[in-house]
Amino acid sequence: EASERESLYLVNEFARDYFAKTLTETEAGKAIGYSYFKERGFTEAIIKKFQLGYSPDEWDAFTSEALKNGYQLSYLEKTGLTIVKTEKQFDRFKGRVIFPIHSLSGRVLGFGGRILTSDKKAAKYLNSPESEVYHKSKVLYGIYLAKQAIAKEDNCYLVEGYTDVIQFHQSGIENVVSSSGTALTSEQIRLIHRLTKNITLLFDGDAAGLRASLRGVDLILEQGLNVKICTFPEGEDPDSFAKNNSLEDLTLYLEENAKDFINFKASLLASEAKNDPIKKAETIRDMVTSISKIPDSIKQEVYLKECSRIMDISEEVLFNTLAQMLQKER
Ligand code: CTP
Ligand code: MN
Ligand code: MN
Ligand code: MN
Ligand code: MN
Repeated sequence: EASERESLYLVNEFARDYFAKTLTETEAGKAIGYSYFKERGFTEAIIKKFQLGYSPDEWDAFTSEALKNGYQLSYLEKTGLTIVKTEKQFDRFKGRVIFPIHSLSGRVLGFGGRILTSDKKAAKYLNSPESEVYHKSKVLYGIYLAKQAIAKEDNCYLVEGYTDVIQFHQSGIENVVSSSGTALTSEQIRLIHRLTKNITLLFDGDAAGLRASLRGVDLILEQGLNVKICTFPEGEDPDSFAKNNSLEDLTLYLEENAKDFINFKASLLASEAKNDPIKKAETIRDMVTSISKIPDSIKQEVYLKECSRIMDISEEVLFNTLAQMLQKER
């Protein structure tokens, strides 16, 4: 319902302002939240641009302020900002630094909150729960601040995390969005598709990042988009890499290491099991599976030929395999 959605946006936007104010205008916010962002290398300008904030480390500081300002408890509960128990109400993001999540048009859909202690039992990030305005499978963190650059560059970098997006902006690269740790969805890709046909996956240099890249490829190809993959050195993510390198070196790294999906899969095989015939056969089958997702048959043929050349296997057997796969899908 439209008016209910509007009420949820208004609550979220009150919260965004409250958290941002707490970050820059209260003693605890400055000492804990602001200095945390500074330590991560974020400038005052970037903190403002992303409307970053801090939620006081008290049980209901935010909730009572919101109630005092006339916001209804039911809306606070629906956005997930407040957790309502029979006797009491609690702030969901208590003691965390806050990353507001915006829609394409800049409305606040929800929040991510990062813990500051190294408490192993608590989740590193907490996110808003699903609500009338926040659907995590449809959201791309950073889209509002990236949309113009994505259209202008005709390419979108897709990263895993909030801080990857922010650090890229700070380096001067603005065509970047994040799936925020959730497995990439078709809906998220459709959102990018409105702005460009080219996606470059920049996932973390670890096993989870690699798996995420591989899963993303076919979903992107399916929508007729072009995909490249660029991995980072072991233990690095786009945030740490951008923080530790100049814009020039970052740009060069992205240019030199972004591979199309065929070359990406081939290089994985080369680094894992170069001479294992079974692994090689599996890789080729996997490549053809990806090619089978491409809606454009000219592109399919170009990629099949590329696959044949790189993997040293006849075009004929690849065409037959593709034909079989397409047959089965019908
Ligand atoms: N994430 C999450 N819940 C967690 C861990 C991660 O929602 N418990 C999401 C966050 O959106 C996070 C993204 O997954 O930004 C990527 O996770 P990870 O690489 O672990 O975090 P970073 O973004 O690198 O965060 P940081 O640098 O602050 O550790
Ligand atoms: Mn909805
Ligand atoms: Mn990661
Ligand atoms: Mn990461
Ligand atoms: Mn990180």
